[in-house]
Amino acid sequence: ARRESLRASLLAWYDRQKRDLPWRRTRDPYAIWLSEVMLQQTQVATVIPYWERFLQRFPTVEALAAAPLPDVLAGWRGLGYYSRARNLHRAAQEVVARFGGKLPSTAAELLTLPGFGRYTSGAVASIAFGEPAPLVDGNVARVLSRLFEVEGAPGDRAREARLWELATALVPGERPGDFNQALMEHGATVCRPENPLCLLCPVREECLAYRHGRVDELPPAKVR
Ligand code: ADE
Repeated sequence: ARRESLRASLLAWYDRQKRDLPWRRTRDPYAIWLSEVMLQQTQVATVIPYWERFLQRFPTVEALAAAPLPDVLAGWRGLGYYSRARNLHRAAQEVVARFGGKLPSTAAELLTLPGFGRYTSGAVASIAFGEPAPLVDGNVARVLSRLFEVEGAPGDRAREARLWELATALVPGERPGDFNQALMEHGATVCRPENPLCLLCPVREECLAYRHGRVDELPPAKVR
Protein backbone atom coordinates (compact mmCIF):
# COMPACT_ATOMS: atom_id res chain seq x y z
CA ALA A 1 0.00 0.00 0.00
CA ARG A 2 2.83 2.36 0.86
CA ARG A 3 4.55 1.31 -2.33
CA GLU A 4 1.47 2.01 -4.43
CA SER A 5 0.93 5.38 -2.89
CA LEU A 6 4.58 6.38 -3.41
CA ARG A 7 4.37 5.35 -7.04
CA ALA A 8 1.13 7.17 -7.68
CA SER A 9 2.20 10.36 -5.90
CA LEU A 10 5.57 10.55 -7.64
CA LEU A 11 4.09 9.88 -11.08
CA ALA A 12 1.33 12.44 -10.60
CA TRP A 13 3.90 14.99 -9.46
CA TYR A 14 6.11 14.20 -12.47
CA ASP A 15 3.19 14.63 -14.85
CA ARG A 16 2.61 18.12 -13.45
CA GLN A 17 6.19 19.25 -12.89
CA LYS A 18 8.52 17.53 -15.31
CA ARG A 19 10.89 19.71 -17.25
CA ASP A 20 10.44 19.81 -20.99
CA LEU A 21 13.73 18.24 -22.04
CA PRO A 22 14.44 17.34 -25.66
CA TRP A 23 15.20 13.66 -24.99
CA ARG A 24 11.77 13.35 -23.36
CA ARG A 25 10.24 14.08 -26.77
CA THR A 26 11.86 11.16 -28.57
CA ARG A 27 11.30 7.44 -28.45
CA ASP A 28 14.51 6.64 -30.30
CA PRO A 29 16.48 4.31 -27.98
CA TYR A 30 19.78 5.55 -29.42
CA ALA A 31 18.91 9.19 -28.69
CA ILE A 32 17.79 8.26 -25.16
CA TRP A 33 20.97 6.25 -24.59
CA LEU A 34 23.06 9.23 -25.74
CA SER A 35 21.24 11.55 -23.32
CA GLU A 36 21.84 9.23 -20.39
CA VAL A 37 25.56 8.93 -21.16
CA MET A 38 25.94 12.70 -21.49
CA LEU A 39 23.94 13.34 -18.30
CA GLN A 40 26.16 11.11 -16.20
CA GLN A 41 28.79 13.71 -15.46
CA THR A 42 27.31 16.82 -17.04
CA GLN A 43 24.50 19.23 -16.11
CA VAL A 44 21.24 19.24 -18.04
CA ALA A 45 21.67 22.79 -19.36
CA THR A 46 25.11 21.99 -20.77
CA VAL A 47 24.00 18.69 -22.27
CA ILE A 48 21.09 20.02 -24.36
CA PRO A 49 23.08 21.71 -27.17
CA TYR A 50 25.70 18.91 -27.23
CA TRP A 51 23.03 16.27 -27.51
CA GLU A 52 21.34 18.03 -30.41
CA ARG A 53 24.60 18.63 -32.28
CA PHE A 54 25.88 15.09 -31.73
CA LEU A 55 22.64 13.63 -33.08
CA GLN A 56 22.88 15.83 -36.16
CA ARG A 57 26.41 14.60 -36.79
CA PHE A 58 25.70 10.96 -35.91
CA PRO A 59 21.95 10.43 -36.34
CA THR A 60 21.89 6.64 -35.94
CA VAL A 61 23.79 3.83 -34.26
CA GLU A 62 25.06 2.83 -37.71
CA ALA A 63 26.33 6.32 -38.45
CA LEU A 64 28.13 6.46 -35.12
CA ALA A 65 29.62 2.98 -35.56
CA ALA A 66 30.93 3.86 -39.02
CA ALA A 67 32.49 7.17 -37.96
CA PRO A 68 36.24 7.37 -37.26
CA LEU A 69 36.97 7.67 -33.54
CA PRO A 70 38.63 11.11 -33.89
CA ASP A 71 35.40 12.48 -35.39
CA VAL A 72 33.43 11.08 -32.47
CA LEU A 73 35.85 12.59 -29.96
CA ALA A 74 35.61 15.91 -31.82
CA GLY A 75 31.82 15.77 -31.45
CA TRP A 76 32.31 15.24 -27.73
CA ARG A 77 34.75 18.14 -27.35
CA GLY A 78 33.86 20.31 -24.36
CA LEU A 79 31.96 17.60 -22.48
CA GLY A 80 35.00 15.97 -20.91
CA TYR A 81 35.27 12.43 -19.59
CA TYR A 82 36.20 11.16 -23.04
CA SER A 83 36.03 7.51 -22.00
CA ARG A 84 32.28 8.01 -22.29
CA ALA A 85 32.68 8.82 -25.98
CA ARG A 86 35.08 5.94 -26.60
CA ASN A 87 32.71 3.48 -24.94
CA LEU A 88 29.76 4.91 -26.83
CA HIS A 89 31.59 4.40 -30.10
CA ARG A 90 32.66 0.83 -29.21
CA ALA A 91 29.17 -0.02 -28.02
CA ALA A 92 27.68 1.30 -31.27
CA GLN A 93 30.02 -0.99 -33.20
CA GLU A 94 28.97 -3.94 -31.06
CA VAL A 95 25.31 -3.12 -31.51
CA VAL A 96 25.83 -3.25 -35.26
CA ALA A 97 27.93 -6.43 -35.12
CA ARG A 98 25.93 -8.36 -32.53
CA PHE A 99 22.41 -6.96 -32.71
CA GLY A 100 21.96 -5.86 -36.32
CA GLY A 101 22.11 -2.18 -35.42
CA LYS A 102 19.21 -2.35 -32.96
CA LEU A 103 19.93 -1.68 -29.32
CA PRO A 104 18.89 -4.69 -27.22
CA SER A 105 15.82 -4.01 -25.13
CA THR A 106 16.61 -5.58 -21.77
CA ALA A 107 18.85 -4.33 -18.99
CA ALA A 108 20.56 -7.74 -18.84
CA GLU A 109 21.64 -7.58 -22.50
CA LEU A 110 22.54 -3.89 -22.37
CA LEU A 111 24.84 -4.64 -19.45
CA THR A 112 27.06 -6.65 -21.83
CA LEU A 113 27.91 -3.56 -23.92
CA PRO A 114 30.92 -1.27 -23.29
CA GLY A 115 30.08 1.65 -21.01
CA PHE A 116 26.78 0.16 -19.85
CA GLY A 117 26.79 -0.20 -16.08
CA ARG A 118 23.79 -0.87 -13.92
CA TYR A 119 22.60 2.72 -14.11
CA THR A 120 22.76 3.15 -17.90
CA SER A 121 21.29 -0.29 -18.53
CA GLY A 122 18.36 0.39 -16.20
CA ALA A 123 17.80 3.85 -17.65
CA VAL A 124 17.74 2.74 -21.30
CA ALA A 125 15.74 -0.44 -20.62
CA SER A 126 13.08 1.41 -18.64
CA ILE A 127 12.88 4.72 -20.53
CA ALA A 128 13.34 3.48 -24.10
CA PHE A 129 11.84 -0.02 -23.84
CA GLY A 130 9.43 0.02 -20.90
CA GLU A 131 11.15 -2.74 -18.97
CA PRO A 132 10.50 -2.39 -15.23
CA ALA A 133 14.23 -2.20 -14.55
CA PRO A 134 15.46 -0.19 -11.56
CA LEU A 135 18.09 2.51 -11.53
CA VAL A 136 20.00 4.32 -8.79
CA ASP A 137 22.04 7.44 -9.44
CA GLY A 138 23.14 10.07 -6.92
CA ASN A 139 19.75 11.78 -6.92
CA VAL A 140 17.79 8.57 -6.55
CA ALA A 141 20.11 7.40 -3.77
CA ARG A 142 19.43 10.56 -1.80
CA VAL A 143 15.65 10.38 -2.32
CA LEU A 144 15.45 6.73 -1.29
CA SER A 145 17.79 7.16 1.66
CA ARG A 146 15.48 9.85 3.02
CA LEU A 147 12.18 8.16 2.22
CA PHE A 148 13.29 4.89 3.83
CA GLU A 149 15.82 6.24 6.32
CA VAL A 150 18.65 4.21 4.84
CA GLU A 151 21.77 4.67 6.91
CA GLY A 152 25.31 4.73 5.60
CA ALA A 153 27.27 7.19 3.49
CA PRO A 154 27.64 7.22 -0.29
CA GLY A 155 30.05 4.42 -1.24
CA ASP A 156 29.02 2.16 1.65
CA ARG A 157 28.41 -1.29 0.11
CA ALA A 158 25.54 -2.34 2.35
CA ARG A 159 23.85 0.97 1.69
CA GLU A 160 24.23 0.65 -2.09
CA ALA A 161 22.81 -2.88 -1.96
CA ARG A 162 19.83 -1.69 0.08
CA LEU A 163 19.17 1.20 -2.32
CA TRP A 164 19.15 -1.09 -5.38
CA GLU A 165 16.83 -3.44 -3.52
CA LEU A 166 14.43 -0.58 -2.78
CA ALA A 167 14.59 0.73 -6.35
CA THR A 168 13.87 -2.78 -7.64
CA ALA A 169 10.86 -3.18 -5.38
CA LEU A 170 9.48 0.25 -6.25
CA VAL A 171 9.73 0.39 -10.04
CA PRO A 172 6.24 -0.28 -11.42
CA GLY A 173 5.27 -2.53 -14.32
CA GLU A 174 3.44 0.40 -15.88
CA ARG A 175 5.41 3.50 -16.88
CA PRO A 176 8.70 2.32 -15.36
CA GLY A 177 10.69 4.89 -17.37
CA ASP A 178 8.54 7.78 -16.21
CA PHE A 179 8.74 6.51 -12.66
CA ASN A 180 12.54 6.33 -12.76
CA GLN A 181 12.72 9.81 -14.27
CA ALA A 182 10.30 11.05 -11.60
CA LEU A 183 12.67 9.80 -8.88
CA MET A 184 15.64 11.53 -10.55
CA GLU A 185 13.71 14.72 -11.22
CA HIS A 186 12.44 14.81 -7.66
CA GLY A 187 16.01 14.49 -6.36
CA ALA A 188 17.23 17.21 -8.70
CA THR A 189 14.52 19.76 -7.97
CA VAL A 190 12.80 19.06 -4.60
CA CYS A 191 14.74 16.52 -2.55
CA ARG A 192 17.94 18.49 -3.06
CA PRO A 193 21.16 17.90 -1.11
CA GLU A 194 20.98 21.32 0.56
CA ASN A 195 17.77 23.16 1.36
CA PRO A 196 15.38 20.43 0.25
CA LEU A 197 11.88 21.76 -0.49
CA CYS A 198 9.98 19.45 1.84
CA LEU A 199 6.95 21.73 1.91
CA LEU A 200 6.53 21.12 -1.83
CA CYS A 201 7.26 17.41 -1.63
CA PRO A 202 4.54 15.09 -2.98
CA VAL A 203 5.69 12.20 -0.75
CA ARG A 204 6.44 14.07 2.46
CA GLU A 205 3.78 12.14 4.36
CA GLU A 206 5.54 8.90 3.46
CA CYS A 207 9.06 10.09 4.22
CA LEU A 208 10.66 8.55 7.29
CA ALA A 209 13.44 11.13 7.43
CA TYR A 210 10.86 13.94 7.34
CA ARG A 211 8.78 12.29 10.03
CA HIS A 212 11.82 11.94 12.26
CA GLY A 213 13.32 15.36 11.54
CA ARG A 214 16.38 13.82 9.90
CA VAL A 215 16.17 15.15 6.34
CA ASP A 216 19.26 17.31 6.85
CA GLU A 217 21.25 14.33 8.20
CA LEU A 218 20.53 11.96 5.35
CA PRO A 219 22.51 10.99 3.46
CA PRO A 220 25.61 11.75 5.57
CA ALA A 221 28.63 13.27 3.84
CA LYS A 222 30.81 10.90 1.90
CA VAL A 223 33.54 9.36 4.02
CA ARG A 224 36.94 9.18 2.40
N1 ADE B 1 19.41 12.51 -14.97
C1 ADE B 1 19.91 11.62 -15.84
N2 ADE B 1 18.96 11.17 -16.67
C2 ADE B 1 17.82 11.80 -16.32
C3 ADE B 1 16.50 11.73 -16.76
N3 ADE B 1 16.16 10.95 -17.80
N4 ADE B 1 15.59 12.48 -16.14
C4 ADE B 1 15.95 13.26 -15.10
N5 ADE B 1 17.18 13.38 -14.63
C5 ADE B 1 18.11 12.64 -15.22
